[in-house]
Amino acid sequence: MGSVNIVDKMPKKTPLNNQINSQNTLETEGFLDSTLRPNTWAEYIGQDHIKENVKILLLAASQRNHPAEHLLFYGPPGLGKTTLAHLIARETGRQIRITSGPAIEKVGDLASILTNLQPGDILFIDEIHRLNKMIEEVLYPAMESGVLDIIIGKGPSARTIQLDLPAFTLIGATTRVASLSAPLRSRFSGGAYRLEYYSQTELMQIVERSAKLLGLEAEAEAILEVVIRSRQTPRTANYFLKRVRDFAQVYDKPTSKEVAKQALDMLGVDEHGLNQSDRKYLEVLIEKFNGGPVGVQTLAQALSEEESTIEDVVEPYLIQQGFIERTSRGRVATPKARTHVS
Ligand SMILES: Nc1ncnc2c1ncn2[C@@H]1O[C@H](COP(=O)(O)OP(=O)(O)OP(=O)(O)O)[C@@H](O)[C@H]1O
Ligand SMILES: [Mg+2]
Repeated sequence: MGSVNIVDKMPKKTPLNNQINSQNTLETEGFLDSTLRPNTWAEYIGQDHIKENVKILLLAASQRNHPAEHLLFYGPPGLGKTTLAHLIARETGRQIRITSGPAIEKVGDLASILTNLQPGDILFIDEIHRLNKMIEEVLYPAMESGVLDIIIGKGPSARTIQLDLPAFTLIGATTRVASLSAPLRSRFSGGAYRLEYYSQTELMQIVERSAKLLGLEAEAEAILEVVIRSRQTPRTANYFLKRVRDFAQVYDKPTSKEVAKQALDMLGVDEHGLNQSDRKYLEVLIEKFNGGPVGVQTLAQALSEEESTIEDVVEPYLIQQGFIERTSRGRVATPKARTHVS
């Protein structure tokens, strides 16, 4: 299996609370992200519903000696969508080719990606909701019937030729499934799967494994502290673990519960996993807008944040934790949020 990054224009992911950077410049976050990324189904903790279904789908496809059907993974950032795509490639011995919605600017970009696929390849399109409509329309027949319709020439002499494509599996990932057009969504014949937030037990397993891979001897209570504050999200948990490790190393202390607490307090994360942006969001909603309802646009303006960051990153966890509700008239703070802020 090989990994070919066709169009390397994907935006770099920065973890939440990234106020403090690792002291160790040799270790880039990206490198560590791939070090900690699970390589086998057994290492991929949780998301049992997805694992069960996808494993059967993959097995059935391989018994039929055919590439698996197209799959869509969606859910908040850092829950393991990209990891799943890589894992599927690895476990099925397929080559994965990686691109993203915003990187495919022209129909020609997509045509070149599709015609360069090898039979059985996996094409991973991250942020697939950002594909433009014209490109989507070229993708439909490619997904459905494995053909590419190309228009040659212009005006009355224009004609369409149809190219047969190698059989491939498309894996799409998105944090915004609602922005995906219905026709595109319906072409994921293998199913659309929502990734769930992780339970405490699952995250404990993930962080224990990460600590081992980082060669860090962390007390169980320190790991628990990391887990409790990590928004039920593996990427955040791994990021916090690394910050705790940095803190212990710099102050030459064992990785204890106390050290973990101090390191995480310094990052501004509280015991509910809320960071400064979350708290600011709740404060503005409650103090400035009287607890709502208030539209997301207005909130975004008041917070000087992008609307998409609020909707994709900040709100899902606040909703999941019961701090806010999304109603037809706008966002509303719950009594739990009022208690938290006061
Ligand atoms: N189920 C899992 N078990 C163990 N570790 C996981 C799991 N899911 C994710 N991780 C860890 O979290 C990191 C982030 O996951 P990943 O990059 O797949 O998230 P994502 O859903 O693609 O996020 P984004 O929407 O920001 O692209 C991975 O590098 C991996 O270390
Ligand atoms: Mg991803």
